[in-house]
Amino acid sequence: MPAPSRTSNPAARAHAERLDLAVEQALAQAGLGLDALAGIAVTAGPGLIGGVMAGVMCAKGIAAGSGLPLVGVNHLAGHALTPRLTDGVDFPYLMLLVSGGHCQFLRVDGPDAFTRLGGTIDDAPGEAFDKLAKLLALPQPGGPHVEAEAASGDPHRFALPRPLLDRPGCDLSFSGLKTAALRQRDALIAAQGGLHAADRRDLCAAFQLAVAEVLAEKSRRALALSPVPLLAVAGGVAANSQIRAALEQVASQAGARFLAPPLALCTDNGAMIAWAGIERFRLGHRDGMDLTARPRWPLDALAAPMLGHGKRGAKA
Ligand code: KG4
Ligand code: ZN
Repeated sequence: MPAPSRTSNPAARAHAERLDLAVEQALAQAGLGLDALAGIAVTAGPGLIGGVMAGVMCAKGIAAGSGLPLVGVNHLAGHALTPRLTDGVDFPYLMLLVSGGHCQFLRVDGPDAFTRLGGTIDDAPGEAFDKLAKLLALPQPGGPHVEAEAASGDPHRFALPRPLLDRPGCDLSFSGLKTAALRQRDALIAAQGGLHAADRRDLCAAFQLAVAEVLAEKSRRALALSPVPLLAVAGGVAANSQIRAALEQVASQAGARFLAPPLALCTDNGAMIAWAGIERFRLGHRDGMDLTARPRWPLDALAAPMLGHGKRGAKA
């Protein structure tokens, strides 16, 4: 028999190899056995399919072995419901997801009721921070390094665009911003043979200001379109203090509260999936052994699909 063809998927392999251990460690840390649990929640998408599949298979195995019910969770719902885990907030609220893979405004009306008001048509903001860092030979992930450089830079030396501000609505775009920064960098290199430290700081400051202003203006529009008492944010980019301050100001101008969960629960984590699983479980939702891993799984099935594919797979 011919050997089966093999395609390597390091992320899927890493998941398959480490998931059992991670589950064991989590139970040990919590001081719980499987018999203390009411169900098994698992991310069933959206995302790069290999890792999601490995997780779904592992969860199915545990559910089948223990007899516990299985609940498939949308990764984005995990982010979107985090303010209820951390602060017990009531519906409705507005969630701005800003990470390396996601960027969207969601109105959250219930554990299963999401309306997408807009999102990126190309890169996610974290992805744009990472690409800028690469252009400037800063380490990855780039966001924190760009922020550190920007702290002592002049944000007004370079004029960078404010993509899509001229168009109505809450959609965003970040790839043009990165291209504009690339042009400025190349012009400097052509003119002076390289980049000075101040050039790098000023480019980072200009870029960060542009992202903060765009996110602030689109958040203002989202709150105007859908006035709710709370603007919440999730994703690694929410760690950026200039962006956070800009969003906080927008919320207070709109008479809304601003909430940024602690960073460990803002970035990808298992607790947010467990929580979203609890919310679905309480609604009576259960999945069978036919639960499948979904590379695409928009939270708001009625929203138009987005165009872009980010570095972390198809955008939902
Ligand atoms: O949510 P997250 O940890 O992971 C996923 O994207 O799934 O977000 C990581 C992203 C990276 O692109 C990183 O550069 C960005 O968040 N990030 C920041 C900052 N800290 C992390 N971007 C801007 N400023 C920061 N301080
Ligand atoms: Zn995420």
